[in-house]
Amino acid sequence: MDLVDILSRTLYLVENKSLSVDVAFKKICRGRICAKSLEERERIYDATWRFVARYIMLRCLYPKASRKKLARIFVSMELNKDQYMWRNLDPWCRYSVPKWFYEELGSLIGGEVDALMESLDRRVRWLRINTIKASEEKILRILEEEAVVERDRDLWYLYKIIDTKKPVRLLKAVKQGIAIPQDKASCLVVEALEPQPGDLILDMTSAPGMKASLIAMLTEGRARIVALDLSKRRVLAMRNLVRRLGVAGYIDIAVTDSRFFSSPRLFDKVLLDAPCSSSGAIAKEPAVRLHLVRRGKVEYYARIQEDLLRRAVDLGNEVVYSTCSLLPEEGEEVVLKIIRSAGHVLVKPRINASDGYRAYEISGKVLRTFPHIHESEGFFIAKLVKS
Ligand SMILES: C[S@@+](CC[C@H](N)C(=O)[O-])C[C@H]1O[C@@H](n2cnc3c(N)ncnc32)[C@H](O)[C@@H]1O
Repeated sequence: MDLVDILSRTLYLVENKSLSVDVAFKKICRGRICAKSLEERERIYDATWRFVARYIMLRCLYPKASRKKLARIFVSMELNKDQYMWRNLDPWCRYSVPKWFYEELGSLIGGEVDALMESLDRRVRWLRINTIKASEEKILRILEEEAVVERDRDLWYLYKIIDTKKPVRLLKAVKQGIAIPQDKASCLVVEALEPQPGDLILDMTSAPGMKASLIAMLTEGRARIVALDLSKRRVLAMRNLVRRLGVAGYIDIAVTDSRFFSSPRLFDKVLLDAPCSSSGAIAKEPAVRLHLVRRGKVEYYARIQEDLLRRAVDLGNEVVYSTCSLLPEEGEEVVLKIIRSAGHVLVKPRINASDGYRAYEISGKVLRTFPHIHESEGFFIAKLVKS
């Protein structure tokens, strides 16, 4: 298969089957010869990634072109380093995001929206050291053989990747499970929960287990963690991950629909890191740009988030609700619907993040992270405490 074929077929799966670039690319290359070497495969994968990221922009330039034609145009633009053609496009086209998405964020944060959109092309990568498996000194020694990292100023266990000799997943420390690629915002969600040894903690939507494993590390295995998830496939991935990270003994895992979960005991703390549109993770996953074209998806997730949060406040004394979304429909608006009826009040989490969107009366009591400010994914984080 040639590059144009790979690009257009992957794009088809991303657009019509709502797959991530990674999954779509693997499907296309399964059983076919996509590249002659691993290095070439890596290069083709990167090109596919950039093509999907620039797809909306290309569509603006060539509204009637077939996917294959767009792929051909993209390849020639990359070869010739063409930059000039898109200068006069509407901003949403230039940033390669759906029009409604650009306009809605613009109405919420004004002129800052451009800085936010530009940041969606620059992904800052983080590594969390796993002190359950090895000492900090040992992890850093192994890590620094292959990467240049910089310690975060907020979280002692988090390091920003400045440079690496190989792809992050192939670093020795990552392969050994002593360093874990985990976004800073994901860690801040766990910090908002303030897990303590002795706590009984429920993670309602836990797969693949990134946050649950951090809770286990921060409590040194002395909190009881119950981790639930609806997806059998993702729970399997979580079982493998927690085993690899050395925290399997501290987490009880079950497959269930948490909207209907009940427990005889009240949990001290509940984490609800709800399924969402992933609009805060565009820098990590360009397919989200295309998935957001169908706006109905956001409403679909907002309904599930509301059901889950309604259940969460019945299950625990303190609930941290988070979504990897920049949209208020999946953040402020969900929380507003719940606190009006639940016996919980909002308490501002003690973490370094920005206030929620000013258009909402609860903006000073909830938090948001933004890629252009916090060098992280865009998360909404709220803490509800029994009144
Ligand atoms: C954002 S992901 C969670 C990521 C996880 N907290 C972590 O840090 O690794 C959302 C998860 O919610 C799960 N999910 C969706 N609906 C659910 C439901 N009704 N009950 C339980 N889990 C659900 C999905 O399968 C998905 O794994």
